[in-house]
Amino acid sequence: MLVVRDISAVYPGGIRAFTGVSFEAEARENIALVGANGAGKTSLLLALIGILPLSSGSVNVDGVELDPENPGELRRKVGLVFQNPEDQLFMPSIYEDLVFGPLNLGLSGERAARRAADALELLGIPQLRDRSPLRLSGGEKRLAAIATVLTMRPEVMLFDEPTAFLDPRARRSLVTALKPLPHTKIIATHDLPFAAQVCSRALILKDGAIRAQGRPDALFSDSALMEECGL
Ligand SMILES: Nc1ncnc2c1ncn2[C@@H]1O[C@H](COP(=O)(O)OP(=O)(O)O)[C@@H](O)[C@H]1O
Ligand SMILES: [Mg+2]
Repeated sequence: MLVVRDISAVYPGGIRAFTGVSFEAEARENIALVGANGAGKTSLLLALIGILPLSSGSVNVDGVELDPENPGELRRKVGLVFQNPEDQLFMPSIYEDLVFGPLNLGLSGERAARRAADALELLGIPQLRDRSPLRLSGGEKRLAAIATVLTMRPEVMLFDEPTAFLDPRARRSLVTALKPLPHTKIIATHDLPFAAQVCSRALILKDGAIRAQGRPDALFSDSALMEECGL
């Protein structure tokens, strides 16, 4: 379970990233984080894995508290799929990208290979194993980037605009791939149909604060609210 209590963060120079955000996510729950550009979605995800320091509040995953002095412990429980897959794929082959994290954790070659195979299997992309990330389609890159995060065996997965750069067919493949994953998922997106398909709950961010939350279909059909939040 992910428990976020009254967190705020500020960028150097005093630009507010987000303020007073609280929510909880149950095991296996999928939560959409929606909001216009600049609403604070990416900043919130970066804070949840300890990349962007909090100025106040707390983040706790299954009893482990995010500790600014020692973010490593929580980072092993939370994985982030970046908006741009190219930030996550940098080796000559997908296989090498997949074993990179586990080997860095100190796992044996054999265990790292097992994790790579499991991640490819879970996402239904074993055929991408020996491909170069430079020669994949947008949809393939997205799934491969998700696979690199799966190899770290996180409990909570964070996704930043996962449908960015995807055509409709790749988008459908992504929905199919995400639905069976057993993780708690926090999905930042301004793609409302996607959010409604994958998530049972949505948080609407406006100017760095939660403006509303509830069932995606109910929230997204409130046109005055959507208009107010730039969605
Ligand atoms: N690296 C940064 N330095 C300073 N301000 C930033 C930085 N990244 C984002 N911001 C600011 O923080 C606010 C939230 O941005 P962001 O989290 O990127 O929103 P979103 O992902 O919803 O588009 C915006 O005002 C944005 O300009
Ligand atoms: Mg963003």
